[in-house]
Amino acid sequence: MSKLFEPYDFCGIKLKNRFIRSATSENLAKNRLPTEQLFKLYKELARGEIGLIITSAMRPDRTWTRGPQQKNMVIDSDDSIPNFRELTNLMHSFGSKVALQLGSFFVFNGESVAPSAIPYTWIPGVTPRALTIQEIREIVEIYGTAGARAKKADFDAVQIHAAHGYPLSRFLSPRFNKRTDEYGGSPKNRARIIIEIATEIKKRAGSDFPVFVKMGVVDFCEGGLTKEDGVEVAKALSQNGVSAIETSAGTPGSEMNALGATNNSRWTEGYLLDYAAAIKAEVDVPVILVGGLRDLSMMEDIISQGKADLVAMSRPFIIEPHLIKRWKEDGDQEPSHCISCNGCMDLYMDGEIVECII
Ligand SMILES: Cc1cc2nc3c(=O)[nH]c(=O)nc-3n(C[C@H](O)[C@H](O)[C@H](O)COP(=O)(O)O)c2cc1C
Repeated sequence: MSKLFEPYDFCGIKLKNRFIRSATSENLAKNRLPTEQLFKLYKELARGEIGLIITSAMRPDRTWTRGPQQKNMVIDSDDSIPNFRELTNLMHSFGSKVALQLGSFFVFNGESVAPSAIPYTWIPGVTPRALTIQEIREIVEIYGTAGARAKKADFDAVQIHAAHGYPLSRFLSPRFNKRTDEYGGSPKNRARIIIEIATEIKKRAGSDFPVFVKMGVVDFCEGGLTKEDGVEVAKALSQNGVSAIETSAGTPGSEMNALGATNNSRWTEGYLLDYAAAIKAEVDVPVILVGGLRDLSMMEDIISQGKADLVAMSRPFIIEPHLIKRWKEDGDQEPSHCISCNGCMDLYMDGEIVECII
């Protein structure tokens, strides 16, 4: 059997295999907490033999929202810990591990804020205000508290979402970060807020609690993060306490985004492989590849050639939560049936429950 299906020690987490469900927003939370429907979905993902399930992006603070269409979970109160513990217990009872993704969309006193005052592509017409140093410190504290709650709720790890044009990924990008203080300029300075967040989480949750980062390696737009720059950022993160890196890319409106292309003709299988491999060659922490993985033999090659340590998928598990089980136990190794039409993403953006439209 291939390495993919063998147990793997991932930052001290004993995974049953190297398959990860990449964070995928479901729009299935109510009153900031998981609903019955969300429990059912996660149960199917775990029954489907996924080694590590990364939750949808949760908000570390309830006021950090793009609007009412965003129906995600929030981890900003100790009262929610028992609900989340129920979810982690369920995942663990099926032998899957679970990491909580902490999203980033900062709001202070009703105002959107970002590293620099450059118009938002996520919310047309909105130009965020540049964060003050005091606010950056508050943000670090908020993430630290949320990370400690995740640990109390028995999550195996947290992942900081620093991709896809949200404020933390904007910090990484020279196009969106024009700061002249210690949070702008060199790759290490641009990565500083994420390093501080990871350090704060570990301070509060324990130094052995794994903190992953999903980062945009390239922005695919003029003046944005390039592959070489992305590798430097990944080095800074990995040398300063980040436990593992998941490589994503793109920002809304760029010529290629996290889903592969704004123009579907440019979609290719495993479209971020070169970027993950470039990072893997330079860092000492595990690297997770996500983006357009559909075919098992391609994933086997990626792992056996050492271009990434783990493989993650999102859309393939929306159409088929039992994909890994099918490949492993049912002997049917046909690729994922996902055709990357992005109908699921349209539902998400409209505030509808995310499902496969095929
Ligand atoms: C409906 C939908 C929701 C998503 N939500 C998140 C999210 O909450 N956090 C995140 O980091 N990425 C999110 N993504 C991006 C995926 O994790 C992944 O990076 C991207 O879909 C490429 O992988 P794939 O080709 O396997 O789908 C989402 C993608 C889709 C389609």
